Amino acid sequence: MDNQLLLKKLDSLSIEEKIGQLVQLTGDFFEGDMDTVVTGPLKKLGLDSSYNVYNTGSILNVTDPDKIIRLQTDYLKRSTHQIPLLFMADIIYGYRTIFPIPLAQACSWNYEQIEQTAAMSARECYDEGIHVTFSPMVDIVRDPRWGRVMESPGEDTLLAMKYAESQVLGIQGESGQRTIPPHKIAACVKHFAAYGAPVAGREYNAVDMSEHMLRQYYLPGYQAAIAAGAKLVMTAFNTLNGIPATGNEWLNREVLRRDMKFEGVLISDYAAIEELIMHGYAEDGADAARLALLAGVDVDMKTAIYANQLEKVIAGNGHLMSLLNEAVYRVLQLKNDLGLFEDPFRGLQDTLQQQKSSVLSDEHRQAALSLAEESVVLLKNEHQVLPLSKHKKVALIGPYAEESSTLGMWAIKGNEADTVHLKTGLLKHVAPDLLSVCKGAYMLPLTAREALGKYEEKLAAETVAEDALLQEAIRNADEADVIVLALGESVYQSGEGGSRTSPMLPESQLRLLHELSVLNKPLVVIVYSGRPLILTEVAAEADAMLQAWYPGTMSGEALGNLLYGAANPSGKLTMTFPRSVGQIPVYYNELNTGRPDLPENGSYRFATRYIDEVNEPLYPFGYGQSYTTFEYRLLSVSRENMSHNETVDVSIAVENTGSHDGKETLQLYIRDKFASVARPVKELKDFRKIFVRSGETREVQFSIREEMLRFYGGTSEYISEPGEFEVYIGSSSRDIAFAFSFTLLQEGK
Ligand code: NOJ
Repeated sequence: MDNQLLLKKLDSLSIEEKIGQLVQLTGDFFEGDMDTVVTGPLKKLGLDSSYNVYNTGSILNVTDPDKIIRLQTDYLKRSTHQIPLLFMADIIYGYRTIFPIPLAQACSWNYEQIEQTAAMSARECYDEGIHVTFSPMVDIVRDPRWGRVMESPGEDTLLAMKYAESQVLGIQGESGQRTIPPHKIAACVKHFAAYGAPVAGREYNAVDMSEHMLRQYYLPGYQAAIAAGAKLVMTAFNTLNGIPATGNEWLNREVLRRDMKFEGVLISDYAAIEELIMHGYAEDGADAARLALLAGVDVDMKTAIYANQLEKVIAGNGHLMSLLNEAVYRVLQLKNDLGLFEDPFRGLQDTLQQQKSSVLSDEHRQAALSLAEESVVLLKNEHQVLPLSKHKKVALIGPYAEESSTLGMWAIKGNEADTVHLKTGLLKHVAPDLLSVCKGAYMLPLTAREALGKYEEKLAAETVAEDALLQEAIRNADEADVIVLALGESVYQSGEGGSRTSPMLPESQLRLLHELSVLNKPLVVIVYSGRPLILTEVAAEADAMLQAWYPGTMSGEALGNLLYGAANPSGKLTMTFPRSVGQIPVYYNELNTGRPDLPENGSYRFATRYIDEVNEPLYPFGYGQSYTTFEYRLLSVSRENMSHNETVDVSIAVENTGSHDGKETLQLYIRDKFASVARPVKELKDFRKIFVRSGETREVQFSIREEMLRFYGGTSEYISEPGEFEVYIGSSSRDIAFAFSFTLLQEGK
């Protein structure tokens, strides 16, 4: 449909029909007859009984294709305007084929693969009738107490940008095209803005940060998604410097639409328009509706505010009426971009005709396996305990030994029955008579289970005394040559609403670890978690440690391959692992302060330091080991002085000096030595992930360009300033192989 026709369509709508386009409801509003809907869901949400559900514009989290067909058919029969429904859902890292959680994916540093798997996830959605996914989430995160760090690519801005771009391209296809091609769906970047920085890591808490911090570190991830063409943006639940994001006109109109050039649909997060009242920002529902419309929020997710209030609020106000028209037009345009006017059953027709969906195809499972292998991070490997020999007797112990719940909290369509658990993964490599398996401890102590609320019942029942589990584990370990201990937090301890003040392994699991470590057998610990846990105690006792995160459908197979060396670990952390809770937030790109803690000053008191803990984290950003070793040689640096149109070209040789083939991620960090605002001690500016065979050498080139040196300077403009820059190249933000400096000349020189 061309623009003229779309405008005509808009003009033909009554005000109720227009407002309906901005309302998003769940599927239950369309089930049963109108009487049950009026007394059930409508009443529960507080929708006026006069509200016509057949004006509603979109549906949240209906993911079953038969139901989508049913609802769309029925809707089109009953609606007066014949505008198809949009189906939007939280398919964050996989529909039925579940890929590793986003934080894990980012640790792969393999953005080609991330794009490919995002495309597979979109393909499964397309085949099953979903039009929009609420992904990617690119909130920068520095605080592992917050449960939703699992959904983020981590603490670094460049990686958030890369992740945003790869996701949007994978989900939507090539950027710059108006219509979304077959096999692709629309992407929604979230949560705008700065949702990842709640005070004290407590879910939904206020966010307070300078505009400099916001623009420099937090906005570029969303911006990259918009530049890649993301059709939607979702608001954040939080206040930002006192104003709730969902009612923040400056943030959404000036920053998002004017500065960031976003032209698509802005959807509120779940009930966030109504929550403007609880924030103490809106006086009542009418005020909330007015503030959200003024702030440019197009779609009201799952509240009655727009439906009940907008008409009254707009009455007689030409400005608000034009804002309403703009909002409705954006929604219609999205439907048009998806081709829904021509085919309201987008994707489903193809699936029905071919009688086949891509869901859980071999190709998708294979990609899930490969990404899971690259996402796992080898944190420690002393005495080369790993990889394991196939001839050794293994005691596989721990609550994750046979646990299929390794999909993470946002795998809403994920099915544990499709998941390969660890024991199955090990059995691909070791004979059954060389493997014993037991639990050793429950996932969580009773007290912690209660705190999970409605998720408590999802945990396995406790029928055996924990001591008996422990004794069995000790017996199994005694008879084995090596212990593989699969520990972790429950998936229900991370994700939305999963903030923790003590992000550690549960006490009972730590007890199991201590009891096994005194047996003096080689001890390999696998940690499953949705966040960096405090692993200081664990690292002191384990010989080897693999950070598995939640690896998805192919979980056990990926870990089995890694444990036995069929795959070589290559993941590197994208979020710092603190040594203790009190260090939080700890992140690599911090400022120097006026009083840095210099090693030559020993325990000099008046430096930026703690008196009871070192500043350094347990494992830094960018860190991860391999079964092989890499040596770096600096071959050349093209210049010492660089003008604005020149580049500093760096050439490095990387030699695989170990006995395994493997992948290495070279990281290039830059420090601006002096500027009109204080600059971080280092910032990631580029990286390369390369494969090098054992004994071989590969050359890697980096080019430093002037744009890479820009920042929000003292005048708030995005600029570079002349002067000295230091460059560090290494295998992590801590392990720097070499450093050099160059000078950026004045512009025009
Ligand atoms: C709330 C979450 O914050 C958001 O990420 C999600 O997309 C919506 N609910 C919809 O389920």
